[in-house]
Amino acid sequence: MLDTLKEHLAEVEKYTSNSLDEIEAFRIKYLGKKGLLNEFFAEFKNVPNEQKKEFGQVINQLKSLANEKVNTLKASLSENTDNQGKYGDLTRPGEPIEIGARHPISIVKNKIIDIFSRIGFNVSEGPEIEDDWHNFTALNLPEYHPARDMQDTFFIQTDPDILLRTHTSSVQVRYMEENKPPIRTISPGRVYRNEAISARSHCFFHQVEGLYVDKDVSFADLKQTLQYFTTEMFGKSKIRLRPSYFPFTEPSAEVDVYWGLETETDYRMTKGTGWLEIMGCGMVDPNVLENCGIDSKTYSGFAFGMGIDRIALLQYQIPDIRLLSENDVRFLEQFKSAF
Ligand code: PHE
Repeated sequence: MLDTLKEHLAEVEKYTSNSLDEIEAFRIKYLGKKGLLNEFFAEFKNVPNEQKKEFGQVINQLKSLANEKVNTLKASLSENTDNQGKYGDLTRPGEPIEIGARHPISIVKNKIIDIFSRIGFNVSEGPEIEDDWHNFTALNLPEYHPARDMQDTFFIQTDPDILLRTHTSSVQVRYMEENKPPIRTISPGRVYRNEAISARSHCFFHQVEGLYVDKDVSFADLKQTLQYFTTEMFGKSKIRLRPSYFPFTEPSAEVDVYWGLETETDYRMTKGTGWLEIMGCGMVDPNVLENCGIDSKTYSGFAFGMGIDRIALLQYQIPDIRLLSENDVRFLEQFKSAF
């Protein structure tokens, strides 16, 4: 009997396996309810008294050895299969981390702000719900002025004096009312016009207005600033100014940048001319300076305004302006940028 036990002891000692099923069978064979160990324990009462001590010791030894064996084999098995050490599986590839995307309008806006802040322009903002004075009258557009029709305005129904601003030029007025020259500021923001919604135009869009007022500011300064901007923004330095009309600037001009005619897209975007219109500009009308409390005999200034949406469509070849406000995640996810 004692010999059988010792044989088992040797067998358990050298047992090894890397199959969970086999280890479980081994456990049941020795440690299960009807296993060998319980049989030996049942046998114990038949053992002659003088052998009981040694017999008991060997059974206990067998029991703890079998337990230990099962535990270590199972532990090494799970370590091998999932490679799970103290820190998890260090060889597993990392979880992909999704980088967020910015809205193309924000990317373009931030880029414009960055370019102008490098030459000393600060950022100013104003309300989207404006009064007649800041959106029109102070900008040299008195009541019944025909140029008011250029911008289809949304009025707040109960009060004809309150409207949704049609351009960010209203922020110019606010800024000049509160700050004295020298003034160098750009004002990005959303504007509203009562226009039919299509692939090319929307009833709301975004502008950046720029304003520079100081002593001896000239048209040459304006031109140089615009050239700096188009070079930084588009990598294109060739621009042309076409005479135009805005009530708040005199003289006024539209700015075209020479995009080129190298590719088919260039051809399509510029309608075969190579030139792209990107903004309006001009020297601030002395009346506007006076309306805002700035002495037009001492100071002069220039202003310009551009559409952010249009630039975003251009830069990213977006075919439809409505995509910018539909918030389709599949569209938005495509714009990862440092800006
Ligand atoms: N406010 C004009 C517009 O919305 C743009 C502009 C701004 C033109 C400043 C000249 C000077 O069309």
